Amino acid sequence: MPTDGECGMDELKIVRSSEKYAVSYCETFDEVAREGKFLSISGGYPIEDILRFIKVCRECGYPQFLLIAPDGRAVGWCDIVRRSGEPDDVGFLGVGIAKRYRGMGWGSRLMTVTMGDAGKRGFNEIRLEVRASNYNAIRTYTRLGFVKIAYTSDGVVTDGVAEDIWTMSLMCRRMEPEGFDRERFFGRFKKIDFRFKKN
Ligand SMILES: CC(C)(COP(=O)(O)OP(=O)(O)OC[C@H]1O[C@@H](n2cnc3c(N)ncnc32)[C@H](O)[C@@H]1OP(=O)(O)O)[C@@H](O)C(=O)NCCC(=O)NCCS
Repeated sequence: MPTDGECGMDELKIVRSSEKYAVSYCETFDEVAREGKFLSISGGYPIEDILRFIKVCRECGYPQFLLIAPDGRAVGWCDIVRRSGEPDDVGFLGVGIAKRYRGMGWGSRLMTVTMGDAGKRGFNEIRLEVRASNYNAIRTYTRLGFVKIAYTSDGVVTDGVAEDIWTMSLMCRRMEPEGFDRERFFGRFKKIDFRFKKN
């Protein structure tokens, strides 16, 4: 399992995110968002926001990996970040793969690599939110060990249309032995809650 380098498999590879992939990452995110069925927004973010997000992930130690096609373009992303109001050790996972590369195991590999990096940042639990109609994603998450923990009616509203969502959770190994100094441990990490600005 790579943590820093590359995980080559067939002709695609999984790499730690960096600014050199920002443009294609931005385009792929936009493409998936525009499908309108999966993400919480129906269009992408400006390149400046994507660049800022990559920087924040690196500075805060948030796991962020990309799926790279043979032509060097980022065709998938996965990240795990903190959310304001949530405990320090709970990370929220976001993932997406360009349409032509779905259903071939790349999403599962990308998530496995990204989650493999989560312990280093001190995440003990990984959560995600998924539209109730996104059966492929729910099946994939379940296969990876996620369990449904909450159902929210009208949990996401995109372009005025509401949809129910599941919150799913995966407990990582607990790292709090007797005498564990929580303040000290999590004090090592920067506390930046990243929020994209709306277009
Ligand atoms: C959800 C997602 C990340 C999973 O990645 P993936 O590479 O498609 O996943 P995998 O190939 O590892 O597994 C997907 C499962 O669906 C099946 N599948 C078959 N054809 C598929 C297709 N065209 N699209 C998606 N899944 C398909 C796979 O065989 C696999 O089934 P299994 O678990 O029974 O083996 C990806 O489908 C995606 O980006 N979807 C759109 C964006 C999205 O939904 N993001 C998550 C928002 S919460």
